[in-house]
Amino acid sequence: MSVFNISPVSETLGAEVLGLDVSKALNSETIATLRNAFQDYHLLCFRDQDLSDEQLTAFSTQFGPLEIFPEEDMTKNAVEVYHVANVSMEGDHLPEDDPRVVYQRNNGRWHTDSSYRYIPSLASIMYGIEVLPHNAEGGETGFSNMLLAYQSLPEDMKTRITHLHQVHSYGEIRRLEPSIPPMSDHERNSLPPVTHPVVRVHPDRDYQRSLYFTSNTSLEIGGFTHEEGKELHKWLVDYVGKEEFCYFHRWRQNDLVMWDNRVLLHRAMEYDFTKYRRVLRRTTVGGDTPVMGPYWPEAIKAAEKTPG
Ligand SMILES: [Fe+2]
Repeated sequence: MSVFNISPVSETLGAEVLGLDVSKALNSETIATLRNAFQDYHLLCFRDQDLSDEQLTAFSTQFGPLEIFPEEDMTKNAVEVYHVANVSMEGDHLPEDDPRVVYQRNNGRWHTDSSYRYIPSLASIMYGIEVLPHNAEGGETGFSNMLLAYQSLPEDMKTRITHLHQVHSYGEIRRLEPSIPPMSDHERNSLPPVTHPVVRVHPDRDYQRSLYFTSNTSLEIGGFTHEEGKELHKWLVDYVGKEEFCYFHRWRQNDLVMWDNRVLLHRAMEYDFTKYRRVLRRTTVGGDTPVMGPYWPEAIKAAEKTPG
């Protein structure tokens, strides 16, 4: 039986897992322990891992079936593994205006992975192969806790947003970053825009509520004039960046970070793309239900039982 340690890395979210080698299949007891910790901390960082793409995929599938990335040139060897890097697959440091680097820049906006799907993902799992030197500026991944953010909202804002939806469109990335080459007709057709409630309820957390929105799949909240919808969106973006909701992960080489896309937003913090190389690989564990809002019958029933 493996002995390992899980301890929090901040007061808002996240825990570090030490003394566990995840390159081999884990037993059911270990998986159950990790699932519980994932539910409690929303983010787990497994330090000092040594993983091939195949081992990263094998580890990830222990938490559910993996999503396939929607764009072919974003993958390496396997359609489930996303190359998050400013370095080509051949190892060349790419110029700042290369579409693959511009694509990374878009990750700097607060978002949650695959919100553009009708059933968005459960978790993302990212492995640090080449990371910035310890003394470099930027390059962290920022995470913001949407359960905390919702709880701390002013009551009038909670009332204002309870019934709202946001349109999430994969194609929006091209509107925000026009230099990225267009999608194929097949990609476009297979990824139509979807809507999700801005307030999400969690059946696995006694129907607790959290915020659910992004700034990479559209820049407005529906249900208002364009101006009002953009203004509300901007307010939410500024709000979730408050330090009291956030943890900024400073990558160490061989970190494996797994986070909960249902309750966290994240963003890549800026760094000098020309000075530093950065190579990470990511898999995405698929979700199993559409995003449930406060007006779903089950959520209404739960709210009647425990008002507020
Ligand atoms: Fe992301």
